Amino acid sequence: MSTRTRADYTPIAIGLHWVAAILIAGNLAFGLYMVDLVLTPAKLQYYSWHKWAGVTIFLLSGARLLGRLGHPAPALPDTMPAWQRLAANASHQVLYLLFFAAPVTGWLFSSAAGFQTVYFGVVPIPDLLEKNKELADVLRIVHRSVTYALATLVVLHSAAAIKHQLVDRDDVLSRMLPFLKPGPDR
Ligand code: HEM
Repeated sequence: MSTRTRADYTPIAIGLHWVAAILIAGNLAFGLYMVDLVLTPAKLQYYSWHKWAGVTIFLLSGARLLGRLGHPAPALPDTMPAWQRLAANASHQVLYLLFFAAPVTGWLFSSAAGFQTVYFGVVPIPDLLEKNKELADVLRIVHRSVTYALATLVVLHSAAAIKHQLVDRDDVLSRMLPFLKPGPDR
């Protein structure tokens, strides 16, 4: 008989997780795509979309963090070795840090480059810095490095979730993806 419980993430936490996952993966891919395009009006439009998605990710991450403080994540399975639990918890903390660092470094870069962000073309977001080309050049590299680190961690996080489902056969993925069945008992 299985001793697993399926519950525990709230439907809102599950919904926000997948909306954020799609936006983050999409914005990583879109950022990589747009950056090498030749300068045209379309490229400028893409930059705006990228920034709007980034601001949305920032807001969603704030909502998720607040939700998480009120509803802690369900415990990891007892069957997981201590080092894996430590690695999982540490990587989740770094992920949250990067969910904020990616948009904030983009915002700083954009400010220093002299391009204010106007959310959905309606809400002006205040620039955090004066226009400064040298600083903008550094911040471009910082934004790139932070987003590459985020991409690396997203890949590791997804690989670990798939391993839980296919190799460990526990309920770690299925409790975040409710239509999936927990892996069967071995
Ligand atoms: C989670 C949110 C974000 C992700 C995952 C992300 C990801 C990326 C990536 C992968 C690139 C290409 C980096 C390269 O290869 O050079 C990029 C570029 C860029 N991002 Fe973001 N970004 C995010 C948020 C933002 C925000 C909020 C802003 C501004 C308000 C922003 C502004 C920019 C700009 C202006 C570039 C172009 C840099 C250049 O021209 O070299 N990003 N971003």
